[in-house]
Amino acid sequence: MLVAVASVKGAPGVTRLAMTLTALWPHGASATLVETDAVGGTIAGRFGLAASPSLTTLAAAMFPSVQGVRIGEHTQQLPSGLPVVVAPTDPAGVQATVADLAAAGGLLEQVSADPETVVVLDCGRLDVRRLSPVMTVANEVLLLVRPVPEEIGLLDVAIKSLQRVGSHVRLVLRGAGYTAAEMSRTLGVEVAGRLPEAPDAGLLARSRRNVYARSVEQIALGIIGRARPSTAAVAEPEVAA
Ligand SMILES: Nc1ncnc2c1ncn2[C@@H]1O[C@H](COP(=O)(O)OP(=O)(O)OP(=O)(O)O)[C@@H](O)[C@H]1O
Ligand SMILES: [Mg+2]
Repeated sequence: MLVAVASVKGAPGVTRLAMTLTALWPHGASATLVETDAVGGTIAGRFGLAASPSLTTLAAAMFPSVQGVRIGEHTQQLPSGLPVVVAPTDPAGVQATVADLAAAGGLLEQVSADPETVVVLDCGRLDVRRLSPVMTVANEVLLLVRPVPEEIGLLDVAIKSLQRVGSHVRLVLRGAGYTAAEMSRTLGVEVAGRLPEAPDAGLLARSRRNVYARSVEQIALGIIGRARPSTAAVAEPEVAA
């Protein structure tokens, strides 16, 4: 299972959402965060991690064969213990390694076909002129957006370009603004959830009693529900902003 998280504008909290989804992935399954932000990695710098292992060592491990590649051999641990594959800071390096990882027959395609392996991708801000290849291979693309008028036009363009390459895109709303129904009606895509405005001391909300964490957990449950065709649709979680 491969879940991509991205934004279209500003810094709405993609890294925080990707980290929290990874940390709180339900049903005891362990998830791994993989940083693929095309502008270059920031997680290693932010958390004082080493430059390697990284996305670069993971991509290199696929040659000559993807068989037997273990993502866990390329992770580092965040202070919270969360396993993360960090991206290199060089954008060209990220783009080249992501292209290899997301190529047909590559590691990410394998992950997307494996419900037991959960990888959450921190994709950063979407570049609609040059969509990351992970957008096609991911089972779900979550666009984190503020539901305000000035984002609608950008979002419409982003959603159409994602749909053209076959992405399964849904929205995650941050904070106050249009309702989920209004966003869905206007843009023609589903809303996976709404995150509250919740500043916190660190990036990662650990407590399940935390309103931000609860919203993220609902989103994860919705993703799992959609991934099983026999399961009835999960009601859209609405959390007051
Ligand atoms: N729901 C939220 N409520 C309040 N603050 C938030 C929320 N989500 C994220 N933040 C804060 O916003 C800042 C940016 O968050 P984050 O780094 O996750 O954004 P990003 O979208 O990944 O940005 P970038 O595109 O620069 O990587 C952080 O200080 C984070 O704590
Ligand atoms: Mg980020």
